[in-house]
Amino acid sequence: MEVKNDSIRILVVDDEESLREICRDALEDEGYQVLEATDGRDALKVIAASNIDLIISDLRMPEMNGFELLEKIKEKQLDIDFLIMTGFATIETAVDCMKLGAADYLPKPFKINHLLVKVSKVLRDRAAKIEQKRLSNIVRLLNLSNALNSLLDLKSICQEFVMQVQKNFSPDSVVLFLRRDDQPLLGKSVCRGRPFREDSDLLAGVQKLAEQSLAENVSYLLDSKSISALPVFLERVFPHSLMLVPLFSQMNKVGVVALLRKENRNFTSDELNLLSVFAAHVATTVQNATIYSRMRDQNIHIIGSYAKAVEAKDYYTKGHSEGVAVYAVRLGRHLHLNSRELDALYTAGVLHDIGKIGIPDHILNKPSSLDDEEFEVMKSHPAIARDIISQVGTLKDILPIVYHHHERVDGCGYPDGISDQQIPELAKIISVVDSFEAMTSDRAYRKALPWEKARDILLKGSGTQWHSELVEKWIKIVTDEGFENIQKEIRLKLTRFA
Ligand SMILES: [Fe+2]
Repeated sequence: MEVKNDSIRILVVDDEESLREICRDALEDEGYQVLEATDGRDALKVIAASNIDLIISDLRMPEMNGFELLEKIKEKQLDIDFLIMTGFATIETAVDCMKLGAADYLPKPFKINHLLVKVSKVLRDRAAKIEQKRLSNIVRLLNLSNALNSLLDLKSICQEFVMQVQKNFSPDSVVLFLRRDDQPLLGKSVCRGRPFREDSDLLAGVQKLAEQSLAENVSYLLDSKSISALPVFLERVFPHSLMLVPLFSQMNKVGVVALLRKENRNFTSDELNLLSVFAAHVATTVQNATIYSRMRDQNIHIIGSYAKAVEAKDYYTKGHSEGVAVYAVRLGRHLHLNSRELDALYTAGVLHDIGKIGIPDHILNKPSSLDDEEFEVMKSHPAIARDIISQVGTLKDILPIVYHHHERVDGCGYPDGISDQQIPELAKIISVVDSFEAMTSDRAYRKALPWEKARDILLKGSGTQWHSELVEKWIKIVTDEGFENIQKEIRLKLTRFA
């Protein structure tokens, strides 16, 4: 990997001025930016003022020696590589430095060429490490993105986000606060791990800081070293390490995520940066889910009015649409469909017969079987439904489900006579539960059939009228859960719907 030398800052630490100068000249000739310090303490001041990539340090120095300097750097978790210059007498300390994480060492006296070769190697390894970390962060973010993309409801999004945070940051405890309905106060949404779950004073302190973080849009990285700078309400955080990031979407302040690790496992500024990217990502997803949920509520309201309009025309279909919707979602869950598909199934179930609004009353409510001519008119209801639904942009996805709910897998259905592979999967589900609900309810021309009779009819039409695996699955659900119990859920929904 190519490293541009002029973007690299090297700090040479030695109490011998002449050695510093030799190193400086050689390194500057290679294009590096070079800074100097006379001992460990002096070096810490330079580090505090500038970003350093590599320290080349002597071991024996007044005030603070090389080993102590390295210890400080590791303690502060600074991302700086360390190369030691050592005389024979300090070779054992050099070995200790290597154990502590120094990149390499160079025995004194050395030829300047050897120094340049070592520096170049350490910096190449450093660039490779940084690239690897960058890629691993991209992979982590992609994983988060994939995990969140299939989810629409707020609860699942929050739970998945917290799980991803646990996987990537290994905190002992994590809490996600979300704003409640545009109020400044934060409500606890998901909380994992003992420290936050069991220590309510600690959680209250963190919540107070979270409110501050959201109000001022500031992230916090706190540990025992920041104790003097902390408000009293956070004293319980110690001796832990706390990382707290606000969730901001483009449009709104969404919430705050806080992570805690117990002693000796401090969070780093790199982790804070990665958590900030995670937070920005989930903030947008949460915002979208909130908008989606509002739109969905509005749609359900509109849909409810449509369904009532049909039922006002056709007394015997009262509750049928809602029943089909409930059954379809029940079957969909057993087929492990995602929340978007289950939503579509529910809406399509409620709306599947909306086209009957355009069917004359004398055909709709005829107490005997329809003749051929009447049946032709009745068969136009999916096309009428398509014309109505196509006017509502947010119902685009359910249009094909409603339009094709009377197709048969053998291709003998209507309106298009398409067969198995061509029929939308969700339309095949509606078809099974639509027939089942109709058979097990009272109709203008007959009483409800016992469910066992409906089961036999489904089995007879399995593979011709209906998809055989769906028939098999649905019969298993009704058998396992009991027909009475399944019906109870519909009655419950209808009371809410009324
Ligand atoms: Fe229908």
